[in-house]
Amino acid sequence: MNDTPAVPQGVDTSAPHSARVWNYWLGGKDNYPVDRELGDQILRIHPKIAVDARAGRAFLVRTITHLTAEEGVRQFLDIGTGLPTHQNTHEIAQALALESRVVYVDNDPMVLAHARALLTGTSQGATEFVDSDLRDPARVLERAGELLDLERPVGVSIIGTLGHVPTMEEALDLVRAYVDPLPSGSFLIVADAVLPEEGTATEALQEWNKEAALAYRGHTRAEFASYFDGLDLLDPGIGPSPLWRPEPVEVGLAPDTDMYGGVGRKP
Ligand SMILES: C[S@@+](CC[C@H](N)C(=O)[O-])C[C@H]1O[C@@H](n2cnc3c(N)ncnc32)[C@H](O)[C@@H]1O
Repeated sequence: MNDTPAVPQGVDTSAPHSARVWNYWLGGKDNYPVDRELGDQILRIHPKIAVDARAGRAFLVRTITHLTAEEGVRQFLDIGTGLPTHQNTHEIAQALALESRVVYVDNDPMVLAHARALLTGTSQGATEFVDSDLRDPARVLERAGELLDLERPVGVSIIGTLGHVPTMEEALDLVRAYVDPLPSGSFLIVADAVLPEEGTATEALQEWNKEAALAYRGHTRAEFASYFDGLDLLDPGIGPSPLWRPEPVEVGLAPDTDMYGGVGRKP
């Protein structure tokens, strides 16, 4: 049984929303019957989707940890934040470096309603939420610049979100629009779905696009790799996200997932 949360102002519970269905697959409670219905429908077609969602979050944790602990990054821009989970970007970064600053960006009213939970920055560090369409990078960067020093390196993370941008061309332009103005030593973290041409993942995607408020577009491996053009890829490069600098495990293998990941450094 999933306790259904009260409906915050502006939240539409008549159609499934990406952040809320994603939250359902992650095991969260910030979702409504309409989200769970589509979530279950997709799970029946393609049970691996829940693994994909978890793989994306785990990748976020490892990459933010790496950039903070090993690369000295102290500022992050988390685009397509989603609903809070038990390890959000500012918690990961500020646990390692208290002074880290994090700006979150999302345009889902449910995410906005939960933004307060994300804004528990430490006194030295600071966290901000920008309620904006990511397809307006000029506005997002202007707002982000109120907290972040955009003359200094920034880690930009976009997890499970670029597939929502209608065309690959626009998604690429957006990535460039976010990374180009940032100084050398900035990083781009991306995780998104790289899908085979046929199979249950493709069927699940068709079902999603019939029902959900916001369509999704899978990537070919080459399309995914193109997000990092002009950047220096950190080892081990691009591939299934669980293989990006995995933590040692006592038992078992890395999860099988279509959620690819990569991290690039701006030269
Ligand atoms: C699949 S969820 C991923 C959430 C989170 N990054 C994670 O990995 O758990 C995609 C998120 O992108 C957000 N999103 C999609 N299109 C957006 C847009 N045009 N502007 C801002 N946010 C958007 C959705 O609201 C949702 O929270």
